[in-house]
Amino acid sequence: MNPIYQAAQDRYAASESIYERCGQSGVLLPKISLGFWHNFGGIDPYERSRAITRYAFDHGITHFDLANNYGPPYGSAEQTMGRLLKDDFAPYRDELFISSKAGFDMWDGPYGNWGSRKYLMASLDQSLKRMGLDYVDLFYSHRFDPLTPIEETLQALVDIVRAGKALYIGLSRWPLEALKFADKYLRERDVPLLIYQGRLHLLDRAPQEEGILDYCKENGIGFISFSPLAQGLLTDRYLKDIPADSRMAREGSLKSERLTSELKAELHRLNEIAQSRGETLSEMSLAWVKAQAGVTSVLIGASSVKQLETNLKSIYAKPFSSEELQTIG
Ligand SMILES: NC(=O)c1ccc[n+]([C@@H]2O[C@H](COP(=O)([O-])OP(=O)(O)OC[C@H]3O[C@@H](n4cnc5c(N)ncnc54)[C@H](OP(=O)(O)O)[C@@H]3O)[C@@H](O)[C@H]2O)c1
Repeated sequence: MNPIYQAAQDRYAASESIYERCGQSGVLLPKISLGFWHNFGGIDPYERSRAITRYAFDHGITHFDLANNYGPPYGSAEQTMGRLLKDDFAPYRDELFISSKAGFDMWDGPYGNWGSRKYLMASLDQSLKRMGLDYVDLFYSHRFDPLTPIEETLQALVDIVRAGKALYIGLSRWPLEALKFADKYLRERDVPLLIYQGRLHLLDRAPQEEGILDYCKENGIGFISFSPLAQGLLTDRYLKDIPADSRMAREGSLKSERLTSELKAELHRLNEIAQSRGETLSEMSLAWVKAQAGVTSVLIGASSVKQLETNLKSIYAKPFSSEELQTIG
């Protein structure tokens, strides 16, 4: 790979199709964003991660999503981001929208998990060091902590913005009632909630069923859907067997027992609908998520440039007919 990176001159040529306003904020996000949960850790080949990131940026994908414990090992995806910035993206820092999070287990002892002020503040400082950044564009509480006073978590987020360590605040996996409280609390302190990150895809519609997506839409909060391909299930990867190089074969976050005969039948059914639209299953699945009212961006993962290339096509997918939506169910 060419060691000197020059971003594609035409990377913003399709701006009108690619970006969408995030809720009622000033921020535009790409309709497809790139997540660093898998494939960017210390165990992954750096040049592959680098090629994927370059391809994304060259095609207008400006939003990269991280968390303190993405890897493995924990912290190493942020180190990869730091290396990428140093090697390729430092001149483009102001064209990037980089997020990180804290909320899940990160280090041993009572201060390396959940939602205390102590944890969030220390974790973000560590994240910034690993990435070599002065600030992140977006910092998330990665999950709601039922045992920490909600005001403590939220005030820590407000103070992080006030300290200039994050420009915006997001919440991930918070239940609806806590989201409502947070929205009010943050608004009253002039740090409006930018975005909610939740799991929404063809096989899991919880944010819609629980009213979270509607709440975000009605209150000017963006929504970004993580694992929109159900970690790869909603692609052609598992229609026959379990490929040796797949996430499922690694038996980590995607276990093989998930692939029941019922699920396989459902994937084949969805694949037939995708084919009738002239699309791959992954393209249709991503287009479906993006088509849900209130969704700002679809946060994908990719283990190759080829996958990313396929997935970006979903931005230009044709709208769903009401008949198709009914068949999809
Ligand atoms: N807030 C949270 O709690 C939370 C939780 C999970 C994820 N996230 C965020 O969401 C991001 C995306 O999550 P995810 O990686 O699970 O997303 P995903 O898009 O559902 O799954 C990505 C995986 O699917 C496979 N794939 C992707 N495109 C493909 C294609 N065109 N053809 C065949 N296979 C394809 C690849 O797996 P193979 O390795 O098998 O090739 C790829 O790594 C994460 O990086 C993270 O930023 C957040």
